[in-house]
Amino acid sequence: MTPDSSDCTGCPIDPDRREFLRSVGAAVTSLALLGLLPRDADAASLRAITALASATHDRKAEKRYPIPAADGVSIDKDNEVIVARASGKVYAFALACPHQNTALRWNADDHQFQCPKHKSRYRDDGTFIEGRATRNMDRLAVRREGSTLVVDVDALIQQDEHPAEWNAAFVAV
Ligand code: FES
Repeated sequence: MTPDSSDCTGCPIDPDRREFLRSVGAAVTSLALLGLLPRDADAASLRAITALASATHDRKAEKRYPIPAADGVSIDKDNEVIVARASGKVYAFALACPHQNTALRWNADDHQFQCPKHKSRYRDDGTFIEGRATRNMDRLAVRREGSTLVVDVDALIQQDEHPAEWNAAFVAV
């Protein structure tokens, strides 16, 4: 007698299903490494992104990303760049906390960046709220080319040293 699918205790796992489960597990592991669980990723409008191909006129340190279509936060872990859209502006931030370089996280529930090490918190535009840090999140120089955000990952702008540059480091959308 052939067991039906609802009574399959002890049946070996189908190889296709095993491969599917393996790939789901790998995806969950990847998100966990980013400090995200799938539920959080959905709630946060938080995405992992990779830089687009460079244009021929780009300098070596410039990375390209699509201009976000809606408010939210994206993280390019390879290049340690956060791209955030909030209230009609798009910013690029360094992933590292300005206190001691710990990778920052996005908390969708309160719309804030948080540092897991000493609990500094920042608004979605990078403004410091509280914690051990002594300045806002570091922004990166950005420019817009059509629907593309070009980020200079070597042009780190510290708010306490260059407040005017820091305030101007965004593109309007
Ligand atoms: S490393 Fe972020 S607050 Fe200390």
